[in-house]
Amino acid sequence: MAEQFSYDQLPYPSYTFPKSFPDRLATMAALYGIEAADPSSCRLLELGCGDGTNLLAMAYTTLESRFTGIDLSKVHIEKARRSAEWIGANNASFLQADVSEFDPKSLGEFDYIVTHGLFSWVPEHVRASILRIYSECLAAKGIGYISYNAFPGAHIRRMLWEMMRFHSDGEKGPAERVKKAREIAVLIAESVDADTPYGAVLQREVEKIIAREDQGLFHDDLENLNQPFYFYEFVERLKQNGLRYFAEADPEPGIERLSTKQIDRINEVSDHDTVRREQLLDFIRGQRFRCSLFCRDSVLPLDNVSHEALDSLLLTTRLEQDVSSTDSVTFVGPNGQKIELNHPLTITVLKNLKNEWPRAVPFRQALDAISDPGIVGTDDDLATCRRYLFDLFNVELVEIHCFQAPFVRDVSAKPEVSRFARLQVELGSRVVTTMAGANIELSSPALRVLTSLLDGRRDLQGLTESMAERIEVPEAEELTLREQLPQMIESNLQKMCDLGLLIG
Ligand SMILES: C[S@@+](CC[C@H](N)C(=O)[O-])C[C@H]1O[C@@H](n2cnc3c(N)ncnc32)[C@H](O)[C@@H]1O
Repeated sequence: MAEQFSYDQLPYPSYTFPKSFPDRLATMAALYGIEAADPSSCRLLELGCGDGTNLLAMAYTTLESRFTGIDLSKVHIEKARRSAEWIGANNASFLQADVSEFDPKSLGEFDYIVTHGLFSWVPEHVRASILRIYSECLAAKGIGYISYNAFPGAHIRRMLWEMMRFHSDGEKGPAERVKKAREIAVLIAESVDADTPYGAVLQREVEKIIAREDQGLFHDDLENLNQPFYFYEFVERLKQNGLRYFAEADPEPGIERLSTKQIDRINEVSDHDTVRREQLLDFIRGQRFRCSLFCRDSVLPLDNVSHEALDSLLLTTRLEQDVSSTDSVTFVGPNGQKIELNHPLTITVLKNLKNEWPRAVPFRQALDAISDPGIVGTDDDLATCRRYLFDLFNVELVEIHCFQAPFVRDVSAKPEVSRFARLQVELGSRVVTTMAGANIELSSPALRVLTSLLDGRRDLQGLTESMAERIEVPEAEELTLREQLPQMIESNLQKMCDLGLLIG
């Protein structure tokens, strides 16, 4: 009997990757001078789409766009089709196929092609087919996204991959392999000399392994096929397929801790060549994984981000002004990060953006809202403001968008949460994706129950009654629960609304 495909044996956990959404891809393209397709009416293909979670998150927010997902696993594709039907995403279709076994031309043309978590984990001939699909199916101004394990960071990860495989290879089923892998990882972490560089590195790696879900550990870390690449090797492969690298889907990670002098030196040593510079940065920060963006080689992107491109884009921030600070103006990020600013124009723009959060505001509109002529300032001031906003973008305290997702700003009488978020709860996920593409953890079972009830048919009284029926408490506490529920529901509805989860 043929061996069952490993992803049919143990399906992969479902996640969304907002950095692979058309909004992010089009935004990064705009920053590098490429006018990519409008995310609200585009065609997107995802290779190795798993159970369709990522694709459906995109499809649900942009019903005018068309989405196609391909995956070899029958279990994944069947689940994807059921989910598409559940949320009513008629704009998404799924194909069960091996990406190396069909004629790319049969697929047609796409504005965006996304491959996440596949490229490093397939045999060489499949990798070649993936690149051929990009080469044949990407539209003239199309944007490609491929994620892959990267060297040199993967050398460190590889030590543990090999140790865990050595110990678990004899086992047949996924559960036994994962158990053996965890066993050896913990034993190693407990036994190494933590005072040596080797011991300290391994202990940190094991911490990450222990935190992983069984499915992720089995498919990502124990897979025999796992080929990381140096960035320059990946870029070379793109070139061979008529494709050109232009940016990462993430803002430049780690760049903020380098001094201007260090950055100048890196540019000089790499002869101001983008690929050599990026490779050098990977050596410095021990890059482990990359999500690279590229276009056709007939398109000529800018070498660096254009700060002026901000003028036609939208921004969001969660930075709040710290009112307790007295001398300069301090902002606080969602994780307590403190940012001190003494530039009045940037300070006012950030305050304007925060007032509208999570709605994305056109940068121009945030500027126009400033009526004080003392703040509006000169062209130099504007350039400084753009530069600060990019610094904040690089540390993920400001987001840049080119698309405003549809969600409501006020809690209605019969609130409705996005059907996609309700699907996630239905499928047992603790994390839901907002309409704006952020992943939010619903930490308590009560919150997940509330989310599943928010279908636009219940008012506060209906929600209270339905929640009371579903939450189990000892009989003596039932009355207290009923009394507390309306307030709990109201405050959480406001939070959900503030996060961009409500669509009605
Ligand atoms: C690690 S999972 C990643 C799933 C999803 N993209 C994610 O990142 O969550 C790899 C996926 O690729 C699929 N896959 C593996 N080899 C494939 C092939 N040759 N053709 C199509 N899909 C493949 C698997 O079934 C699985 O769903």
